[in-house]
Amino acid sequence: MQLELTGVEKTYNISDSVKVPALSGIDLRIEAGEFVSLVGPSGCGKSTLLSILGLLTWPTAGCYSFDGRDTRTVSRRDQARWRGDAIGFIFQSYNLLPRESAWRNVMFPLSFRANTRSTRKTAAMHALEAVGLAHRADHFPSQMSGGEQQRVAVARALVNRPRLLIADEPTGNLDSATGKEILNLIMRLATEYGTAVIMATHDASVASRARRKVTMSDGRIISDARKE
Ligand SMILES: Nc1ncnc2c1ncn2[C@@H]1O[C@H](COP(=O)(O)OP(=O)(O)O)[C@@H](O)[C@H]1O
Ligand SMILES: [Mg+2]
Repeated sequence: MQLELTGVEKTYNISDSVKVPALSGIDLRIEAGEFVSLVGPSGCGKSTLLSILGLLTWPTAGCYSFDGRDTRTVSRRDQARWRGDAIGFIFQSYNLLPRESAWRNVMFPLSFRANTRSTRKTAAMHALEAVGLAHRADHFPSQMSGGEQQRVAVARALVNRPRLLIADEPTGNLDSATGKEILNLIMRLATEYGTAVIMATHDASVASRARRKVTMSDGRIISDARKE
């Protein structure tokens, strides 16, 4: 997998006269299996950048090439298929379906696959086991703590063994000990599956554990630092 943004701009058009520039002149390349932390003050464009990388929104100018293919030349429908096959998402607010049990939430990304229901259920149960929640499989989100819900979200994001994991402040709602557990889990599973991770975070201890730290300010990348 290789992702490359070249000269990417994003402007939100609120109305004909009101335009909010969110990204300008973004150049960024992410290679297979990398772990990248994305930091910068609120409003600097982190979530917008993650949405573009995750094929959830599109640049207003510039190029996003996904595995060597310019996304401007690929239909949104085909991009949605790439997204389902190759990308997992974790958000600050867990985003679980409230009326579905843990295992059904985890199984959800597999719904569109041409395999049998029992194969999908087995995969979901394995993913729950990998995050230490097999015993909560039948519980609903409201019956679980924030940390447990986020573990379910991690299982859901990784059940496909995606090549890219996009995490938008995944520890933002958790106390620091629980946040650390979630981070350990993400790092362990991503390493095991060879999944590249790009994680927006305010948590300095999270950012310090990433090999690569990209810092944004006001819609731009102001530093891109790697450490050994
Ligand atoms: N859907 C949207 N419509 C209009 N403006 C938006 C939208 N999403 C984000 N913005 C604006 O774009 C800028 C970048 O926001 P965002 O990407 O959410 O930053 P961050 O995640 O770093 O806090 C901000 O000025 C924000 O208000
Ligand atoms: Mg954000």
